[in-house]
Amino acid sequence: HLDEHEFNTLQLDQHGPLAVLTINRPKALNALSAETFGEIAEAIDLIMDNAEIGALIVTGAGDKAFVAGADITELSALDGVYAGREASLAGQDVMHQLSSLPIPVIAAINGYALGGGLELALACDIRVAATNARLGLPEVTLGLLPGYGGTQRLSRLIGIGRALDLMLTARQVNAGEALQMGLVNYVADDALNKAREVAESMLRHGPIAMSLVKEAVRRGMDTSLEGGLEIEADLFGMAMSTQDFKEGTAAFQAKRRPEFKGE
Ligand code: CAA
Repeated sequence: HLDEHEFNTLQLDQHGPLAVLTINRPKALNALSAETFGEIAEAIDLIMDNAEIGALIVTGAGDKAFVAGADITELSALDGVYAGREASLAGQDVMHQLSSLPIPVIAAINGYALGGGLELALACDIRVAATNARLGLPEVTLGLLPGYGGTQRLSRLIGIGRALDLMLTARQVNAGEALQMGLVNYVADDALNKAREVAESMLRHGPIAMSLVKEAVRRGMDTSLEGGLEIEADLFGMAMSTQDFKEGTAAFQAKRRPEFKGE
């Protein structure tokens, strides 16, 4: 059971098939320290090893911040090309592990999601913003650029024009503007509650099919349309060879709810 594991800077809870990872460093507005990155990676491993888990929500403790970025105190102690590059690669690696999970991952953005915090949300599949959320990439105000995938994931998600605007002005957008630009999928007073609702709806679907959707979309982003269509056809073939496909179509024909086993 995921709840059995102790962490210093985060909390990992399990509610049946739903895992909730809460970044918990309220004194630093849940900023991502090296320790937190290590613990996120550990949590991802635990989730990967637990076949019961079908969806993950990532959120921040308290109602002020999701994550207010990389830990600036730690960053300020680094110096030079090598240290900066290594810090970026290490953060990118954890974000990549998160985005590569085969289950749906939903960010519940309960307040500030700035810098590395927005990058964490961008590594999730779906974003739910609380009405009080503030999102932005203010790295240039520190003489830095986003280093945990933000320059790449944000432009892929909302287009380079809007991404460059956010990164060069360093401005914060509220939930309404974030929704309008496609930066978040939903806005709700209680982001965690809404994220749970979205997760519940996904948990009813074929888990293998959902993992193949993620794979097709993510691998397709890195290739030509032709290459992407080939990936889609290959994965479509894989889906058709599953028991879930037989169950899904049989349930449709019998006018009952499908019971997917992930086989
Ligand atoms: N790292 C370390 N500590 C942080 C932090 C961060 N990213 N963000 C906030 N904190 C700390 C503050 O230093 C403060 O600590 P003390 O109480 O010990 O002084 C505490 O959290 C509360 O923060 P504030 O007093 O600043 O709260 P506020 O309500 O006045 O402002 C805020 C909130 C606008 C989010 C402000 O805290 C802020 O601007 N934070 C930094 C945001 C930022 O620049 N993030 C990008 C980081 S760089 C990055 O992420 C690099 C990368 O991509 C690789």
